[in-house]
Amino acid sequence: MAESLTKLAFLCCLCLSTQLFSQASDSIVPNQSLPDGKFIVSSNGTFEMGFFSPDGSKNSFFGIWYKIISTGTVVWVANRDSPLNDTSGALTLTQDGNLIVLNTANGNVFWSSRGNYTSNIQNPVAQLLESGNLVIRVANDENPENYLWQSFDHPSDTALPGMKIGKNLVTGLDRVLRSWKNSDDPSPGNYYFLLDSHGFPQLFLMGSGSVERSRYGPWNGETFSGTSVPKKDSIYTLEFVFNREEIYYTSYPVGPSIFIRMVSNHTGYLQRFSWDHRTQAWKPLLTRPADDCDKYGICYGYGICDINSSPICSCLDKFKPQNEEDSYGGCVRRTPLNCKNDGFIKYSGVKLPDTRNSSYNQSMNLEECEKMCMQICSCVAYANMDIRGKGSGCLLWFEDLMDIRNLGESGQDIYVRMASSELGSSGSSQKIGSSGRKAKIIRVCLTLLAAILLLGLILTLYKWNKQQKRRKEGTKRQQELTREGTLGGNSRQTHRVESNMEDLELPLFDLATILNATNYFSPQNKIGEGGFGPVYKGTLQGQEIAVKRLSEYSTQGLNEFKNEVILFAKLQHRNLVRLLGCCIDGEEKMLIYEFMPNNSLETFIFDENQSKLLDWPCRFRIINGIARGLLYLHQDSRLRIIHRDLKASNILLDEGMNPKISDFGMARSFGGNETEANTRRVVGTFGYMSPEYAVDGNFSVKSDVFSFGVLVLEIISGTRNRGFFHPDHHHNLIGHACMDTA
Ligand SMILES: *[C@@H]1O[C@H](CO)[C@@H](O)[C@H](O)[C@H]1NC(C)=O
Ligand SMILES: *[C@@H]1O[C@H](CO)[C@@H](O)[C@H](O)[C@H]1NC(C)=O
Ligand SMILES: *[C@@H]1O[C@H](CO)[C@@H](O)[C@H](O)[C@H]1NC(C)=O
Ligand SMILES: *[C@@H]1O[C@H](CO)[C@@H](O)[C@H](O)[C@H]1NC(C)=O
Ligand SMILES: *[C@@H]1O[C@H](CO)[C@@H](O)[C@H](O)[C@H]1NC(C)=O
Ligand SMILES: *[C@@H]1O[C@H](CO)[C@@H](O)[C@H](O)[C@H]1NC(C)=O
Ligand SMILES: *[C@@H]1O[C@H](CO)[C@@H](O)[C@H](O)[C@H]1NC(C)=O
Repeated sequence: MAESLTKLAFLCCLCLSTQLFSQASDSIVPNQSLPDGKFIVSSNGTFEMGFFSPDGSKNSFFGIWYKIISTGTVVWVANRDSPLNDTSGALTLTQDGNLIVLNTANGNVFWSSRGNYTSNIQNPVAQLLESGNLVIRVANDENPENYLWQSFDHPSDTALPGMKIGKNLVTGLDRVLRSWKNSDDPSPGNYYFLLDSHGFPQLFLMGSGSVERSRYGPWNGETFSGTSVPKKDSIYTLEFVFNREEIYYTSYPVGPSIFIRMVSNHTGYLQRFSWDHRTQAWKPLLTRPADDCDKYGICYGYGICDINSSPICSCLDKFKPQNEEDSYGGCVRRTPLNCKNDGFIKYSGVKLPDTRNSSYNQSMNLEECEKMCMQICSCVAYANMDIRGKGSGCLLWFEDLMDIRNLGESGQDIYVRMASSELGSSGSSQKIGSSGRKAKIIRVCLTLLAAILLLGLILTLYKWNKQQKRRKEGTKRQQELTREGTLGGNSRQTHRVESNMEDLELPLFDLATILNATNYFSPQNKIGEGGFGPVYKGTLQGQEIAVKRLSEYSTQGLNEFKNEVILFAKLQHRNLVRLLGCCIDGEEKMLIYEFMPNNSLETFIFDENQSKLLDWPCRFRIINGIARGLLYLHQDSRLRIIHRDLKASNILLDEGMNPKISDFGMARSFGGNETEANTRRVVGTFGYMSPEYAVDGNFSVKSDVFSFGVLVLEIISGTRNRGFFHPDHHHNLIGHACMDTA
């Protein structure tokens, strides 16, 4: 009896100890071995490791899989390319801290962790952590930094939370997810997912023959370009670390009972799953490539893929198909680059192109980035590295732009180098210009000026002679503007006709200067929207300026623009806004004026509060000033100018509330004796147009005077002529005034 009891106790002890060994402990120490058929479970039971045979396979592999939620989801395999063909395998930790898978029958080693550490370590231990990471460490040192080896550094096809995909730049360690060959064969398959650190790092899913299959764009501070930003309620977060020591990407679930994993599967897809506790199944969160546009370079160089159009591939704006025939084979520039005279066009809402040959600088801003790209002839595009906030960092491309995709709202901006002749005619794109085109702009402006001069000059030669003495006032800038005005008498007129190009040179600014001055036409600098386009405030050489940017769609074409430039170049009066220069760059046309701090008369007289600031003496001064300006236009200038659009919003006020007439886009000049003309195109503003002009198209100084009269009534009454309402009658403001005087 006693003997049998002892025997029983002994058996129980034996039983208990194996139990303890195989289940309670998550570790293995030297000389212990884990044979086929026995398992080790992580402390809280999430993962389990041991030998397994995939369905349909007789081979045996050592691996790790989920225990708690789903049996059969293998996340790591040790001897993936050297299987055991029977059940005689075992895992052992050697005295020097090396994990090996061996055949116990013959002692053949099938796999070894081959950790890179010296052999004189004391008390190594191999432990399966709750994260699914199998680590080898020194028994009393749990610091992850000091792990001698870890399975997370040698992934199979699955990334678990906290596992880094990417490179350790110090040791050269590269963590790549490599698919299984088949569902029953964990040996390395055709597909792998890696972080490519060439140029600016990106993630690639590669296919057989190391061909790119799908690409995650460069990290932009929030996500990888081309992938959606994880939403606030997302169950996982992404982390991208990029420093001198390492570049990697990892993800974490947001809560403790959330399980996520990412797999590079053997049919060529990257899939992210989360465990659905309700259905007890893995739920796909993301698949790559998700659609045809996700396939790498499907539209070749300078092509753009749009999944919502058919065919999905097209050329980027300003590019044309490389093949003249039907077969699409990528795109080439319509106009070749010429280095010095190039500019940039912004393309919005795209997945940034392949950055493998890009260079980058984290501390540059977009302006410096543009300058840098401009300086290098081989630089074809630039973009912000980080889109957070106002954007920062600089990415530069030097090769054909590959793998661009149209993403709409969730895309990014890229600025592509373009021959100057291509700048401007693009639809929604914003042109960002460059320096070095001055010569061309001058040529354009001068040709333009010369043509008009020949006409205008002959007509006004005599009048001009008489009046030039008035025009001594002025600044250096004015002298520049009106250099011809200080030339002497008749003896020099012939000379002037010949050399008018030099004489009449209006200051020309290149686009880059204006972009700088207006902070790239930033919305904060916008001070108004005229009939012909927005007006921006800027600072040029310390002087405040207003830049009227003629919108491409405005009806003010090149003709009106020329008109305004030519007329203005000849006009100088204290009650006319001063034109400081112009800028022509492709389709982009701009007029640079002195800045008027008090905006327009319209903002004062029709505003209840603002109008209180205008006392009667001030209103009188304004009326007087407008009258002087108009008199100058009509009688005292070399040309007789009909403004044709005199209205409150075209009267600007300087800091001393002095009125200045602006906007000469519709003005017409007459020869000395002409007083009237007719037009089929009646332009102007209702409420200010004289009846004979509005109805018959007759205009003369009188139609301007009519507008002036309306303006005076408006200044006095503080109400608009148009839209005037009186309870007693139906007349407009003019009618009302007539009634009162009657
Ligand atoms: C493991 O076995 C070796 C020889 O087989 C022995 O020298 C060593 O002391 C053993 N270690 C432990 C911890 O039992
Ligand atoms: C294991 O479970 C315990 C109790 O639920 C918990 O406090 C602990 O954080 C868990 N450990 C890990 C590594 O998840
Ligand atoms: C298992 O593989 C060994 C060689 O590694 C071979 O000699 C043996 O015949 C194989 N056994 C079976 C059952 O295939
Ligand atoms: C392994 O260690 C040796 C010696 O310390 C070192 O020269 C070698 O670069 C290491 N290899 C790796 C892959 O870390
Ligand atoms: C791989 O992923 C794709 C896309 O999610 C899926 O259609 C396919 O069935 C997966 N292959 C395997 C073997 O799971
Ligand atoms: C990057 O440059 C290398 C060498 O010049 C070239 O072979 C490769 O095609 C380029 N890659 C891309 C994506 O442009
Ligand atoms: C990045 O740009 C800044 C500012 O232009 C410059 O000082 C720095 O040297 C650049 N860094 C590199 C690595 O080129």
